[in-house]
Amino acid sequence: MKLDINSKVKLNDGTQMPLLGFGTWQIRNGESAYNAVLWALKAGYRHIDTAKFYGNEESVGRAIRDSGIPRSDVFVTTKLWPTDAINAEKVFNRSFEKLDIGYIDLYLMHWPVPGMVKKSWQRLEKIYETSGKIKSIGVSNHNIRQLKCILDVAKIKPVVNQVKCSPYNYDPTMHEFCRKNDIVMEAYSPLTRGNMLYDEKLTTIAEKYKKSSTQILLRWCIQKGIVTIPKSAHPEWITENADIFDFEISDDDMRKLDNFSKNV
Ligand SMILES: NC(=O)c1ccc[n+]([C@@H]2O[C@H](COP(=O)([O-])OP(=O)(O)OC[C@H]3O[C@@H](n4cnc5c(N)ncnc54)[C@H](OP(=O)(O)O)[C@@H]3O)[C@@H](O)[C@H]2O)c1
Repeated sequence: MKLDINSKVKLNDGTQMPLLGFGTWQIRNGESAYNAVLWALKAGYRHIDTAKFYGNEESVGRAIRDSGIPRSDVFVTTKLWPTDAINAEKVFNRSFEKLDIGYIDLYLMHWPVPGMVKKSWQRLEKIYETSGKIKSIGVSNHNIRQLKCILDVAKIKPVVNQVKCSPYNYDPTMHEFCRKNDIVMEAYSPLTRGNMLYDEKLTTIAEKYKKSSTQILLRWCIQKGIVTIPKSAHPEWITENADIFDFEISDDDMRKLDNFSKNV
């Protein structure tokens, strides 16, 4: 499988999403978020993940505008926080204004709203239909039961489910459900938030390919067709994490990585 930094997956609404993205959770609004996004764009990432909850939409948007990269070349996700579902339209407009990038590529329901999974999805559909400012809508942190609830009523199918995913917590049942329903699985915390980078099972595979632990974790995602959004606030790590297109993990090692979740 020949993949490169521009490789994209086709979403069920026909739009395309880069397999590799850049996560911005816990990067503070201001120079930190501004610089990190500029570093990521310079390193070749063309997909940025933010959320109203992260509080950094303003600096993320400013970096995208200042980068000089055409808007249409960058895929930008932001998210609606569950307690805001009641005021979804107003809150969306705040995110839209803060980002100030003309349109949002992907707007996600950040977490399911207990007892309101269907209704909150219908609110997202309404914003999508009436605002003309969003290219695609999807969900995050939804389990299979909640996805089924949405699919029962959806006029517009969610294009992605963004879930916590790495070899250490891979859920093949969720992945298969998404595949069958033409929903792309997107991995957040793909680097295990840094917690498992020194695990011997992982470092053994990394040494074999002469790559770092983070590069193995990210390559595993994209080889499985899972969109992945690693975060770093360090320019050298941002660059390192994008350097995953000059090798391929063998089927045998992919299976080993798939099974890491069984041992924790
Ligand atoms: N939908 C949701 O509910 C949800 C939840 C969580 C996250 N997300 C999204 O997913 C993104 C990624 O997840 P995450 O931020 O939880 O964690 P992550 O990407 O799994 O890990 C980030 C951690 O790994 C470190 N790191 C990055 N590259 C490294 C490298 N090459 N070598 C060593 N350490 C490295 C970072 O350090 P430094 O930062 O110090 O550089 C940071 O501490 C988020 O930023 C956010 O956009 C979504």
